[in-house]
Amino acid sequence: MSGRIPRDFIDDLLVRVDIVDLIDSHTPLKKTGTNYVACCPFHTEKTPSFSVNRNKQFFHCFGCGISGNAINFLMNLNNLEFVEAVEDLAAFAGITVPRETTSYQADEKKEDLNSLYQLMDQAANFYVQQLRTSDEGKKAVDYLKARGVNGDCANEFILGYAPNEWKALANSFDHNALIKAGLLVNKEDGQVYDRFRNRIIFPIRDKRGRIIGFGGRVMDDSLPKYLNSPETTLFHKGNEVYGLYELLKKNPKPAQILIVEGYMDVISLSQFGINYAVAALGTAISLAHLNLLFRFSPEIVLCFDGDKAGLAAAWKAMESVFLSLKDNRSCRIMVLPQNQDPDSLVRKEGLANFTLRVQTAQALSDYFFEHISEKLNLSEMEGRAQLVGKAKPYLEKLPEGIFREMMLSRLKTISGISTLNDLNNPSKSKTPYTEKKTPNTSPQSASVKSAKTATALLLQNPRLIHNIDQKNINWDLLDIRGIALFKNIQQVILSKNTVNTAILIEHYRNTAHEKSVKALASLNLYVSENNIDMVFADTLNSLLKQGKYAAIAKLETKAQNQGLDIHEQQLLIKMLTDK
Ligand code: UTP
Ligand code: MN
Repeated sequence: MSGRIPRDFIDDLLVRVDIVDLIDSHTPLKKTGTNYVACCPFHTEKTPSFSVNRNKQFFHCFGCGISGNAINFLMNLNNLEFVEAVEDLAAFAGITVPRETTSYQADEKKEDLNSLYQLMDQAANFYVQQLRTSDEGKKAVDYLKARGVNGDCANEFILGYAPNEWKALANSFDHNALIKAGLLVNKEDGQVYDRFRNRIIFPIRDKRGRIIGFGGRVMDDSLPKYLNSPETTLFHKGNEVYGLYELLKKNPKPAQILIVEGYMDVISLSQFGINYAVAALGTAISLAHLNLLFRFSPEIVLCFDGDKAGLAAAWKAMESVFLSLKDNRSCRIMVLPQNQDPDSLVRKEGLANFTLRVQTAQALSDYFFEHISEKLNLSEMEGRAQLVGKAKPYLEKLPEGIFREMMLSRLKTISGISTLNDLNNPSKSKTPYTEKKTPNTSPQSASVKSAKTATALLLQNPRLIHNIDQKNINWDLLDIRGIALFKNIQQVILSKNTVNTAILIEHYRNTAHEKSVKALASLNLYVSENNIDMVFADTLNSLLKQGKYAAIAKLETKAQNQGLDIHEQQLLIKMLTDK
C-alpha cells in the first residue's frame, strides 16, 4: 500500500484502542490504583516497574525509562517500523488503515462516532422489540424455534426482527444518521427506505461489544438469503468476525478459536456449549481476521463446509494463514462432511462428536502438503520439482521462525531436494532497543519549573485546556524557557476533535519536541486525581505572575535606559495596578 496514513486516522485509532487491552494481551497487567503494572517486557526485572495509564493511554517503565503510546509499544515490542505498528494496531482494533489517496476523509472523523454507536444500539433494540411484541414478530420467533434456537441464545445474540415495512426505522430515527449507519437505502430520487425488511436480524458486535453492523436472513427461500450492512464508518467486513464479543465474554483466553462460515453456525455451536466459534462475515478469511483472533488465542481452527465452495475457500485462506503464522501461533484445518455445516452437524451428532472433530482437525502442515501434492506424481522427478515450485511461494510468506524452518525441511524431505536454496527472506531490519537516560534534573528557576509543571499537567490531562481562560492571558508577557512548548501543546489540543496524551505524543513524533514531550508525559507530579484542577490553576497563576514580574522588570529597565513609548507606559501602569 502506498500513500500517507492520514493523521486523523491515527488520532482516531489511538482513541479507539485501549492501550490497557493492547498491552494486557501481550503482558498481563495488574491494576494498582489508577495504573496497571507488570514486569517490564523491554528489560529483565523481578519487581514490576512498568506502568500503564488508561487515562493517558500511555506506558512508562521507571526501570529502563522506555515510554510512549500504543504505537510505541508495538514498535518496541515487535521491532516494527512506524507504519507496521500502525497497521498492527489497526488490525487489533479491527479496522483497515486508509491511505491519503483512498476514501478516508478527514471530516469523517468529525462524525460523532458515539452517536452512531448509539443509533446502532437503538436500532438493535427496535428489532428486538419487534421480535418480541409485534404480531409479525411471532413468525420470526416461530422460525427461530423451528431452527432450534432457544430464548437464552436469542437474547445473548440480541436476535431481532425487521418488520415487513419500507419505513419502520425511517419513521423512527434521523435519516442522515440512519444512512451513515447503513440502515437506510437512499434512492436516486431522494426517497429512502429501510435496508432490512422482513428478516431475522443478527447484530454484529466488535470485540468490545459495540454494535457495528447487522446481518438479516429471510425466513423462506427467497434471495438473497442474507443481507449484510454495507461498509460504514463503523463496519469493515474484512476486519470483523461475528461472535467475538460473545466468545470473549464467556471465554476471555480461549485455547483455540474456531472460524466457521455462518451466523447460524456460531449461534448453534454456542447453544451446544462450543463457545469458541466466530464467523467470517461471508467473506474470505483475511490476514486482519487472523491477526485479530490471534490476539486472544494461540490456535485457530478454520472450519469449512465439505462442498466444493468450502474446499476452495479453505485453500484460498492459505495465503492469509501463512502470512499470519508467527511463532507461537498455529492453525488447523477442519473440513466437514459433504452437505453439512457446523449448525447441522452439531445438531446431528452432538457436542462430544463435534468437539472431537475440532480436536483432531488436520495440522496445517499436513493439510498444506496433502493439498499441494494432490495432482502431482511425486514418484517422478518432474512431479517433485513442480511441488517445490508450487510450495515455495507459500513458504516464503511465512514469517521467520521455527515453523518456517520445519516446513522448509519437510519440503526438502518430500521433494528429495536437500540442496533446496533457502527461501527469500522478507525479514525486517531490527533496530536494537537502547536504554534512555533519565531526564536532566539540573536546578531550575521557579518560572521554568512552573512552565514545566503546567506543560506536564496539560499533556497528561488535555481536558485542562478548558481551564485556561484564553482571552485573559497575555502569553506574550511570558518570556520563559519552556513556555513555547506549553503554548504549542495548547494549539495542538485546540486543533483536535478528540485528544488524549497518546495523541499528543503521536503529534510530536519525529519533531524536536518528541523527547521532552515523552519525558513530560511520564513525569510523576505527585498530584492526586482530585487535586489536578487546583494544582493546574495554581501553577498557571504563578506562571502568569512570574511572567508579569519579568515583563514589568523588563519595562522598568527599558524606562531607565532608553525610555518608554506611550503604549509601553500604559502597559506598565496597567500591570503595576492590576491585581
Ligand atoms: P450459508 O449459505 O452457508 O448460510 O452462508 P448458513 O450460515 O448455513 O445459513 P443458514 O443455516 O442457511 O441460515 C454462510 C454465510 O455467508 C454469508 C452469511 O454471513 C452466512 O452466514 N452469506 C450467505 C451472505 O452474506 N449472503 C448470502 O446471501 C448468503
Ligand atoms: Mn446453515
